[in-house]
Amino acid sequence: MFKRNLYFRIVSTFISVVMLSLFISYLINSIFFHQELFIEEEVSKISTGVAELVELIDVEKVPDLMETLEGFNLEMMIVNEEAIVYSSFSKPPLAINSESIQTIINSPEITSTVLPYHKREATRIVGSPIQMLNGEYALFIQINYEKEVVALKRIIAFTLFLVLFIGSVLILLASTHIVNPIKKLTDAAKQMATGNFSVRLKSKNKDEVGELINSFNYMASELEKIDKMREDFVSNVSHEIQSPLTSIKGFTKALQDDVIPKEHQKEYLDIIFQETERLSRLSENILRLASLDSEHHPYHPSKYRLDEQIRRTVLATEPQWKMKNIQINLDLKSLEIYADQDLFEQVWLNLITNAIRYSYENGIVDISLQGNKDEVFVSIKDTGKGIPEESIPHLFERFYKVDKARSSSVKGNGLGLSIVKKILLIHDCSIQVESEEGVGSIFTVRIPIYSDADRKL
Ligand SMILES: Nc1ncnc2c1ncn2[C@@H]1O[C@H](COP(=O)(O)OP(=O)(O)O)[C@@H](O)[C@H]1O
Ligand SMILES: [Mg+2]
Repeated sequence: MFKRNLYFRIVSTFISVVMLSLFISYLINSIFFHQELFIEEEVSKISTGVAELVELIDVEKVPDLMETLEGFNLEMMIVNEEAIVYSSFSKPPLAINSESIQTIINSPEITSTVLPYHKREATRIVGSPIQMLNGEYALFIQINYEKEVVALKRIIAFTLFLVLFIGSVLILLASTHIVNPIKKLTDAAKQMATGNFSVRLKSKNKDEVGELINSFNYMASELEKIDKMREDFVSNVSHEIQSPLTSIKGFTKALQDDVIPKEHQKEYLDIIFQETERLSRLSENILRLASLDSEHHPYHPSKYRLDEQIRRTVLATEPQWKMKNIQINLDLKSLEIYADQDLFEQVWLNLITNAIRYSYENGIVDISLQGNKDEVFVSIKDTGKGIPEESIPHLFERFYKVDKARSSSVKGNGLGLSIVKKILLIHDCSIQVESEEGVGSIFTVRIPIYSDADRKL
């Protein structure tokens, strides 16, 4: 449980990173930096200084000097080849032997030589030649900086520990900045899983977490829209089903109970038949929309004559326009398009049926087909009742009807234009509506023509 905690992960990552970098820097340090050089330089300077001092003062004062130097952790020895003249060394070091004494005495004045030492030793012995009592002597100074090294190591270790400790505490505090928004996101996602799509989170930062929160909010609002659409869809469908069912139920009951005189029975059966047809059209349209919505809707485009297709559709709707005594004028240029014939047939059928359905008796419907090599326009113009301006933006919404009360007697279900829109979208086409109430409407479809080469891309 604790291991899965994000705080724990951040702090442990921090500690591991610091530890690892310390280790690597230690390695690099020990490979590339030779601090010994600094120390040797210092030690040589001291020893040259002492050598000058010894030459300056009286020989009797040398023991006093030795005592003073001991207070600074400096041990000293003056020798010549025969004997040790003065020494404050606790034990004579191995490095001082007749050979090294010889070398020092023979070396030029004011030079100092560091004697060989062990790598890990914190002591250095430096020899300088001196002139004393009219003779040549070698002066050895031993510096022990063990204590300083230990103190330095302690300070470094303590500082590193402090860095780790303070860093961990600060990282722990700072990580709340990172972890809190994620916790909030988790809570919000859980809420959304229970069906509450109204959750939104505030994001102050523009960083990755801020972006995540923005995306989450966007997802939530999209889901909310989809949920709303689903609710509307269910209520619309039930409403559309309910009214024909009610009349079917009522009329069959009346027929069953023999309350309808024989001569009127045919009328009632006609109504029942129409309502059944309306229901079947509804389910047909819903299925068609569902199929168009799905990624795998059938789509079989081919090249065909558009004018012929429109002419066929007009013929198919003949009973409807004949019944209302509507005059249909065709002005069709002979043009070919590349599209799914079955789907486009649906488009013309829906638009022409609407033009007839929402026209008055003896109206006129003009259908024209124009175009050039880039685009084709089909316009369907009626002299019907028109559409109020405020309704035009909603025409292509599912189940939208301008006149809700009346349209139940007119056989629509408000899905026709949404199917048209969907099919046109699939084909990269667009549709425009111009309408004036009491004058009529024009629906214009624009079909872009792609060359064969473009289409293959
Ligand atoms: N040519 C038109 N003239 C007037 N109103 C129209 C026309 N076409 C569509 N409408 C209005 O748009 C609404 C939506 O049309 P549509 O989606 O085809 O549904 P419906 O099944 O009701 O015909 C219709 O209810 C109608 O009010
Ligand atoms: Mg319609």
